[in-house]
Amino acid sequence: MANVVPVGIAGLGRYVPDRHLTNFDLEKMVDTSDEWIVQRTGIRERRIAAPDQVTSSLALAAARQALDDAKMAPEELDLVICATVTGDQPFPATACRIGLDLGAKNAGGFDVAAACSGFVFASQIAAGMIGSGQFRNILVIGAEVLSRILDYTDRNTCVLFGDGSGAAVYTSLERAGRGEFLAGSICMEGGAETVLAQPGGGSRHPASHDTVDQRLHYMKMGGTKVFRFAVRVFAELVKNVIDEHGRDQIGVIIPHQVNQRIIEAAMEQLGMPMDFVFSNIDRYGNTSAASVPIALREAYEAGRLQKGKLVVMPAFGAGMAWGHLLLRW
Ligand code: UT7
Repeated sequence: MANVVPVGIAGLGRYVPDRHLTNFDLEKMVDTSDEWIVQRTGIRERRIAAPDQVTSSLALAAARQALDDAKMAPEELDLVICATVTGDQPFPATACRIGLDLGAKNAGGFDVAAACSGFVFASQIAAGMIGSGQFRNILVIGAEVLSRILDYTDRNTCVLFGDGSGAAVYTSLERAGRGEFLAGSICMEGGAETVLAQPGGGSRHPASHDTVDQRLHYMKMGGTKVFRFAVRVFAELVKNVIDEHGRDQIGVIIPHQVNQRIIEAAMEQLGMPMDFVFSNIDRYGNTSAASVPIALREAYEAGRLQKGKLVVMPAFGAGMAWGHLLLRW
């Protein structure tokens, strides 16, 4: 269904905590090496939230920067959507805390739990609601404190992830003047509870001494399966955009920052040079729902969003859920 109101992005923001956790720090914690991590993932360091920071504190900093960039007051917001799998607590929604802390007096709020695809999915919800005329201004945030659900005795997972947040303010294209929402996709395939998950704490394995003893509240992952899935869907999503719009229309590809080798393998499959890609994985690792909006803000600061050109954002992760967001800047 075509949008009645064309939708754009008025502002972008990002925040990462001050503490750096380097590969050399991790060498002292688990049986790994800087060399292995850099070769297999491209990651050199990641950021870790301070003990007094929670997901909403990280989100708030990114949200303020996005609102400043949009020249929009918090009272103008109709809705706050927070994409996260590490909310402040299971409920209420972290978006409600963010809205209150921001002073978004006229906004409602809810969370989207779609792991690494969260920001891409939440952005499509926002674009649909503005496009239909239901709401005017929506703040979408991707924020994670993954360090609280990582098992720092499990080298298969703990080296890959970090904390951070990114935000975008969606409004009418007329007001935004840039970042036109063109399209998006939301897809899934099942059988994923064992591939990438936090098994403990929900109705399947409610919190108990037993779930704690079995370390079920930490993230579990079958990395190789995720690797193959990610390369396949990344290439497929970008190919669909090329088929519809032509390769010469693409200004930049800002993928979920999952693993440099996954990004390179997908680009090789597509026969496209890495110059098309914006990547910051070396500095932050995988920040799940925060990864695309952090990279989007940094691409904007670096002048990588070219006027009139397409910005393609493929994302993929637990679910298995994947999709993309397509803007014209
Ligand atoms: O947003 C989606 C979230 N998921 C991801 O980001 C994960 C995607 N997957 C990956 O990034 C990669 O699969 C990994 C980086 C996790 C692993 O790379 P790989 O090339 O698939 O590794 P591999 O299967 O060739 O090697 C695994 C080996 C195992 O040893 P054995 O069993 O072959 O002896 C692991 O125990 O590498 C070992 N290993 C490590 N060694 C040193 C796993 N983690 C580490 C580590 N340091 N941190």
